[in-house]
Amino acid sequence: MTATLGACILPVFRSSVWFPTDVRADLLDVKEFPVDIAVIGVGHVGLVTAACLAELGHTVVGLDDDAAKIETLHAGGVPFHEPDLLQLVEKVTASGLLRFTTDLADAIADAEIVFVCVGTPPLPGGGPDLRFVERVAVEVAALADHELVLVEKSTVPANTGQRLTQVIAREQTARGTDLTNVHIASNPEFLREGAAVYDTLNPDRIVYGTSSDFARDALRRVYAPLVERTGAPVVETDVNTAELIKHASNAFLATKISFINAVANVCDIVGADVEVVAQGMGMDERIGPKFLQAGLGFGGSCFPKDVDAFLHLSRNVGYDFRLLEEVARINAGQRDVVLSKLRDELWHLTGKTITILGAAFKPGTDDLREAPALHLARALLEEGATVHVYDPVALPGVRRALPDVVTFDDPLQAAAGAHAAVVATDWPEVVKLDLAGLVAALDYPILVDGRNCLDPEAARAAGLRYHGIGRGHLQA
Ligand code: UDX
Repeated sequence: MTATLGACILPVFRSSVWFPTDVRADLLDVKEFPVDIAVIGVGHVGLVTAACLAELGHTVVGLDDDAAKIETLHAGGVPFHEPDLLQLVEKVTASGLLRFTTDLADAIADAEIVFVCVGTPPLPGGGPDLRFVERVAVEVAALADHELVLVEKSTVPANTGQRLTQVIAREQTARGTDLTNVHIASNPEFLREGAAVYDTLNPDRIVYGTSSDFARDALRRVYAPLVERTGAPVVETDVNTAELIKHASNAFLATKISFINAVANVCDIVGADVEVVAQGMGMDERIGPKFLQAGLGFGGSCFPKDVDAFLHLSRNVGYDFRLLEEVARINAGQRDVVLSKLRDELWHLTGKTITILGAAFKPGTDDLREAPALHLARALLEEGATVHVYDPVALPGVRRALPDVVTFDDPLQAAAGAHAAVVATDWPEVVKLDLAGLVAALDYPILVDGRNCLDPEAARAAGLRYHGIGRGHLQA
């Protein structure tokens, strides 16, 4: 089948970028609405995806094999902190558009589309662990008794779509079942934790890669209401290209952060202010002001893993993507920048007490995966320091990850008796901190602002020895 898009007829395998004003009527005519959807894995990406697709009017079943997680959802809670998610889940479950199960056969019984949102944790030797993605494909191949689309949404390396096609063919051949009823697609998400619901319902673009008309039409129907609502442009392409769009987008953003951090390190040496440098750069429309915030570097479940996965993939196919090696190296080095600022002030850190203000990898989330604060805390503990950690929401995870740190739910209590404080997460609670109170609480009024989120003049006026990242002209 070919579908009409405005004036053009799109062959299935050709990429196209289109804007809703050109094609909206045709798009909505493609087939009936709503779509029956299964979302496998209700972690951060899966639960947000499931709730937002239900909000668009689709009928969604969310599945997880973690019974405790499903129990939490059945009891009306959500298993992690994400703004607006609880209210949205409450709303769409009450309206009957979203329900949860632990039974895959139940989840996919009516599904036309199955989104794979299971974890792809990093392997010790580099690259992501794709066991869970493979397992979903094997199980779906065994259970599929009608035509459906299996969509990768987990962050996966390029060529995962080809692997999934291989897995499905292998399983169906082994079982002697229909070899044509499972279609593979890639539909990367670009949501930021802490703004995940907003990002999903207000995307900059929608990207999907398919290899059949059936899959492409199903995804068109899934996203038609969102395109209608937001006017977001759509990139329709093949599976490999969609996967690469995700890789390249995250790797580019990570590169932007490492670039500005490298500039910040030069600023410290030459006595310039990276904040103003970034402002000046960002005014060039070709550069743009976003993702030029220097500091402790990027963490989270995506950037570190995606940079690593892209590197791994490049190595496997024989391309030496050294730029990305450097991006990762600069990022890890930002913790050493903070440590050396502390050593400049305190000589050695053994026996010193350091307060880390903020633990989550960024504000608005309790996610501690690859959080710069935890890397810093580990390094401080290894040097023999006592580490106090404040965070407004992430302390339970901090205690699990680092039982040797002392945790506080009040920033000034965390600072009491410490020899220096480090801002690691720019939580509003940290940005608005009572600076005079901080001076009074600390044994020595030393502050390293690892997110450049405090006003250096105000900090100095309050009596702090303020050190930012790349604010060389302002150092105490
Ligand atoms: C990111 C991408 O933004 C999103 O599109 C993708 O789907 C998943 O990965 P997320 O990891 O939630 O989202 O966080 P993001 O807001 O992008 O920040 C990532 C990290 O970079 C944080 O640790 C943040 O503090 C850091 N960062 C971000 C900087 O250090 N400087 C910046 O200028 C921007």
